[in-house]
Amino acid sequence: MGRRRSEAGDAEGDPPRKRGEAGRAEQKRKRKGDEPSPRELVAAANAARDIAALVGDAAKPGPTTMRSSSSDGPPSATRGYVVDQLPDRLRRWCFDLTKRNMEAMYERTWGWSNPEKRRELAHSDARFIVAFRGDDDDGPMGFVHFRFEVEDSDGTPVAYVYELQVEDDARGRGVGRALMARVESIAENTRMARTMLTVLKTNAAAARFYERLGYVEDRDTPRDEACHYVILTKPAEAGRGGEGVPPRRSSGVVNP
Ligand SMILES: CC(C)(COP(=O)(O)OP(=O)(O)OC[C@H]1O[C@@H](n2cnc3c(N)ncnc32)[C@H](O)[C@@H]1OP(=O)(O)O)[C@@H](O)C(=O)NCCC(=O)NCCS
Repeated sequence: MGRRRSEAGDAEGDPPRKRGEAGRAEQKRKRKGDEPSPRELVAAANAARDIAALVGDAAKPGPTTMRSSSSDGPPSATRGYVVDQLPDRLRRWCFDLTKRNMEAMYERTWGWSNPEKRRELAHSDARFIVAFRGDDDDGPMGFVHFRFEVEDSDGTPVAYVYELQVEDDARGRGVGRALMARVESIAENTRMARTMLTVLKTNAAAARFYERLGYVEDRDTPRDEACHYVILTKPAEAGRGGEGVPPRRSSGVVNP
């Protein structure tokens, strides 16, 4: 998964990205008046240290704990972390699980690099939600790594999912759906325009999963047939008016 970018990289070693268009959109919004600009919204979201509070359904005392409801997931606890709150053993587990799940798929496309994946998981903007088998911190079964960003292509603020991984023996029980529901809720509560992610064209199972969750191909997904991935998107819930980007077409085309 991760994220593919186009031109200059960032200071923490993320792959290149294109800034010109986003910068122009930002200036235009600033001129419009008092509404916070996308950059300000992203900065405010990044300043939040209590991820559970951003979800808005914290059901248990403690700043970072959220309990799954029966309607959106299995009976488990999820915890949210800003990158520097993530315990080392969980950071190692996130890396190991990603490697177990993805290395072979990466090797067939853009290649797997241990240092690059470790760097990505340690990025200062990284935010995590981890699902556990029980109420204590034992037995993590899945995690999502996301970031708040101003989208390169149109200058809107987005929640970008860099990684979603579930342990093999925990799949098909609503863990992935529950984790994505929390990111989407956070996107809405922080006034992001949409949730976005990148999926390999060869990852047909993930494509079907995202389709079930209502994701569609983003209009900026690369048109090049030889490209290994597609960009999927889901607008944040209606009510803020006009910031969501219309989809190009259904994500069903992702299947090989
Ligand atoms: C993709 C993945 C995250 C899904 O997580 P999960 O916890 O198994 O998914 P859920 O149980 O929450 O499923 C949610 C919905 O998606 C559907 N779904 C999940 N996996 C599916 C699959 N392989 N094929 C078809 N539908 C699938 C489920 O049927 C369910 O639909 P429903 O709730 O309407 O009945 C998980 O399989 C995984 O970690 N895969 C390996 C890593 C990976 O590919 N990550 C994505 C990288 S982009």
